[in-house]
Amino acid sequence: MGTLQRGNPSFRRNKGALIIPAIAKQKLIGALFLMGLIAGLSCVPTERRTPPAYRRQGTQAESLTVFFTGGTLGALKPCGCSGGQLGGFERRPAVLNAVPRQRRLAVDIGSFVAGEAEQDLIKYTIILQALRQLDYDVVSLSEKDIDIGATLGELDSAELGFNLIGAYAGADIDLPAKYTKTLALGGRAVAVTIAALKTKSGSLDEVRELFSPQAGAQTLNVLIVDQCSPDIAESVAAAAPSVDCIICPSESDEPIIVGDPDKKPLVFSVGRFGRYVCKLQATTDGSRQALKLSLDVIPVSEDLAKDASLVNLYEDYQQFVKESNLLQKHLRVALPNDLEYVGSASCEPCHDSEYEKWRGTAHASAYATLEKIGSQFDPECVVCHVVGLDYESGFVSAEQTVDLKDVGCENCHGPGSEHNRSGGWAKTTEPKSACIVCHTPEHSGEYAGNERSFREKIVHWAEPNAANHVK
Ligand code: HEC
Ligand code: HEC
Ligand code: HEC
Ligand code: HEC
Repeated sequence: MGTLQRGNPSFRRNKGALIIPAIAKQKLIGALFLMGLIAGLSCVPTERRTPPAYRRQGTQAESLTVFFTGGTLGALKPCGCSGGQLGGFERRPAVLNAVPRQRRLAVDIGSFVAGEAEQDLIKYTIILQALRQLDYDVVSLSEKDIDIGATLGELDSAELGFNLIGAYAGADIDLPAKYTKTLALGGRAVAVTIAALKTKSGSLDEVRELFSPQAGAQTLNVLIVDQCSPDIAESVAAAAPSVDCIICPSESDEPIIVGDPDKKPLVFSVGRFGRYVCKLQATTDGSRQALKLSLDVIPVSEDLAKDASLVNLYEDYQQFVKESNLLQKHLRVALPNDLEYVGSASCEPCHDSEYEKWRGTAHASAYATLEKIGSQFDPECVVCHVVGLDYESGFVSAEQTVDLKDVGCENCHGPGSEHNRSGGWAKTTEPKSACIVCHTPEHSGEYAGNERSFREKIVHWAEPNAANHVK
């Protein structure tokens, strides 16, 4: 594989800044939503008019599989806040290992992390390790993956255990643009080539050079692009008719087939956050006919078995997060008007009935929930499971700020210092979080549409609000 030079002096580290990769806006007409289709939509490379019945015969024959993932964007594992969440490296082996090693190729198209803060860098290292444990063959790095990897000095194929490709030269890193592996299919050789192309600056002329004919082998050619235009299929087909598939950047969490699934090249995106795995299957009926391709989208769902070594890897991640003291380093802003958080226990003397009722709600054990699963040092979790992580005088640690763990009074009513000092006469003020701030669709799938029953479960006030509800 290509030579890699480490250390780019001009690398700018945007500390703490969350930079979402600018996924180019695609105006894709006729995008077809897949929604976990197992039945499979077929695309037939050269004989696009093959009737479905004929195609199905092919699946009885031997097949080879190329798995595609990518756009992890830091999602190592779903948070588990509510049921039905998809994704997680620990469940991916159940998908990939369903196909024997010698009959498959696993490809990740990169975009490992969403930002460049310390936690993102930890995730980056963990993701490389996960891909290694998952036995990936090749990983196509995004521009940002290359930048971060160069800074961390982690882009050595030999050490990583998989091949790297990338369309971005410069940055003191010179990655090959393509990778080819030959697999056997129906007694013949199939050369599978995965190539990355930067379409933004260059023209499509380079595409032809990427896919040189392979002597004596059938080919399966996949092109990964950094941008998709509505006419990408036609332009690539005109420039390089041997391209079977084009992979576009993802704009949605779910994979999407763009345009006509029966047309060559088949254009699709792999989705985001590792929630799905795309499974491209090539079959042959043994004749000299072209390969038949079909694409399935497999949701990485909770009913798939967890892999022990990847579960361990996540525990390593939690350990790194703890050792890095990310909670202490969390960026905090001052509260308005010199207000301070004082903790739920301080409200008890005057609001004992509210306090007792709150103790009985799930909110009062939100921090213990994180402790049970080892995520109590992870700011990405703690932020919604304690009081005021984003503010000075807010939660720092269970030891330093014992009364600020859990979802407390001040999450919803605002910081209590002035209220307490005035014996309750100064009204509590902002910042107050509405339910939806934490009960987002992602973290609380049941909340939307059931606001009323959620509210009923936390009633701790006198109804109707009476003057004498305060002790
Ligand atoms: C945006 C706010 C938010 C973030 C960030 C968040 N959570 Fe939660 N979490 C919630 C809410 C809200 C619930 C309750 C959901 C419900 O019951 O509908 C919850 C519930 C949970 C539960 C289930 C509790 C139970 O017993 O039912 C677990 C476990 C959990 N979160 C873990 C995590 C972990 C781990 C992370 C970080 C990876 C995390 N949370 C990040 C808001 C959040
Ligand atoms: C600061 C974030 C936050 C805010 C604001 C918040 N919640 Fe929660 N809520 C949580 C978390 C975290 C949990 C999960 C606690 C656990 O079990 O560990 C939760 C759990 C719950 C539960 C229990 C769910 C179940 O399945 O039993 C209910 C009910 C609930 N919240 C209602 C509300 C309502 C109503 C509001 C607004 C008035 C609200 N929450 C505001 C974070 C929040
Ligand atoms: C998850 C959010 C949440 C938490 C946590 C919470 N409250 Fe409330 N509280 C509410 C909501 C919602 C009401 C309903 C009245 C309203 O809309 O303001 C309310 C009402 C009250 C009232 C009556 C207000 C009035 O105008 O009559 C008091 C007093 C009160 N809460 C005190 C507390 C105390 C003390 C705690 C902690 C022990 C606490 N609350 C925890 C959301 C919350
Ligand atoms: C020294 C006693 C005292 C303490 C401590 C106290 N309160 Fe109060 N609180 C009161 C009194 C008295 C009222 C009623 C004032 C009124 O009727 O307007 C009140 C009213 C409220 C109300 C309704 C009016 C408003 O300000 O929105 C909320 C909410 C509330 N308290 C929350 C809290 C929370 C949260 C804490 C802890 C951070 C707390 N209180 C601590 C005495 C206290």
